[in-house]
Amino acid sequence: MNSSTKNILSPFTFPVSGIEITSRIVMAPMTTYSGNDDGTTNDAEIEYYRERNQTAGLLLTACAYVTKQGKAFHGQIGVDTDVMIPSLQRIATTLKENGNKAVLQIHHGGRMSAPEELADGQSISASAVAAEREDAQVPREMTSTEIEETIAAYGEATRRAIAAGFDGVEIHGANTYLIQQFFSPHSNLRTDKWGGSLQNRMNFPLAVTDAVLKAAALAPRPFLVGYRISPEEAENPGITIKDTLQLVEALAMKKLDYLHVSVMDFWGGSIRDTTDATPRTQLIAAQVGAKLPVIGVGNIHTPEEVTRVLHTGIPLVAMARELLMDPKWLIKVENNTTDQIKTELDLNDQSALKIPDPLWERLISNGDWMPIKK
Ligand SMILES: Cc1cc2nc3c(=O)[nH]c(=O)nc-3n(C[C@H](O)[C@H](O)[C@H](O)COP(=O)(O)O)c2cc1C
Repeated sequence: MNSSTKNILSPFTFPVSGIEITSRIVMAPMTTYSGNDDGTTNDAEIEYYRERNQTAGLLLTACAYVTKQGKAFHGQIGVDTDVMIPSLQRIATTLKENGNKAVLQIHHGGRMSAPEELADGQSISASAVAAEREDAQVPREMTSTEIEETIAAYGEATRRAIAAGFDGVEIHGANTYLIQQFFSPHSNLRTDKWGGSLQNRMNFPLAVTDAVLKAAALAPRPFLVGYRISPEEAENPGITIKDTLQLVEALAMKKLDYLHVSVMDFWGGSIRDTTDATPRTQLIAAQVGAKLPVIGVGNIHTPEEVTRVLHTGIPLVAMARELLMDPKWLIKVENNTTDQIKTELDLNDQSALKIPDPLWERLISNGDWMPIKK
């Protein structure tokens, strides 16, 4: 074991739940677009998870919708009714087969939900403001009752994750979905307690966190709760790092086990101000890292790149695309065969990689997104 692999393979204990993992690697949440139409999983998806269950100490699932109105993609899994529990149990059991910990990401798409996936074809959000993207639907503004029901749905989703055997849930507060929409001055123009001031825009994310923590406290075994955040939005108005540093400060007061900072390039700077090159995750870790462990992510592929992030003091590193391309990544680190780590997608490898067809189609149709082996 050299010094770089030693860091990667050192154990980590989450501060609130006391749950221990045996490496510093996290499998980032990845939607597979491959679930059944009713929100349940299937054999192809289970095989995909089985292939990756040794690749990280903490294994995050694809995001699961907490209400049907929150479904964002075709083939997304659900955690919206008790009927989903056996299906979720299959995922949890498969991910835990080799002793690693399984965490369900819980999600609501808000204005990013695909209208064709919704019973009434109408997405909802904090306010009736469309996202800045081509053909975006104008969402319907949520009523106060709907807001309360949606908060409760995150708690119910947590109860189901416990019943299904997961070790925790991750609140998906990132990537422009509903929780972020409430925090954003772009999508939240409300004048009631859920909008207006920065403090009011924090109310929905914090109320969801409280509902999840309340449900988690009833777990009959250690159960962790993490929160995923996007530090900035490019839109004007949009979330600034100044806003985010206040939200993370409030989140750090809660009994969370980690904060996962979602950026596409860990080492990249601000997406709002190109003169500001400081990595956002480092700013957040400097603010709250002593109280709340931070997970870094974004364009990190090799053991050297992981080690470079760990050396900044950030204790955990998540990878998404890398673990699609090489599910044996961590095993190669353990076996000292890191020279065999694959950092390109080989178009001949779909069946060896156990990637279901809908996900494969997405990966290979976006050449800029996935490095494809020539
Ligand atoms: C196929 C795919 C699906 C994804 N689905 C999710 C998701 O369900 N939830 C989420 O928070 N992020 C999702 N992401 C974002 C990743 O978790 C990660 O933040 C991003 O890909 C950057 O990490 P990477 O450079 O290691 O790929 C997805 C990414 C990919 C490639």
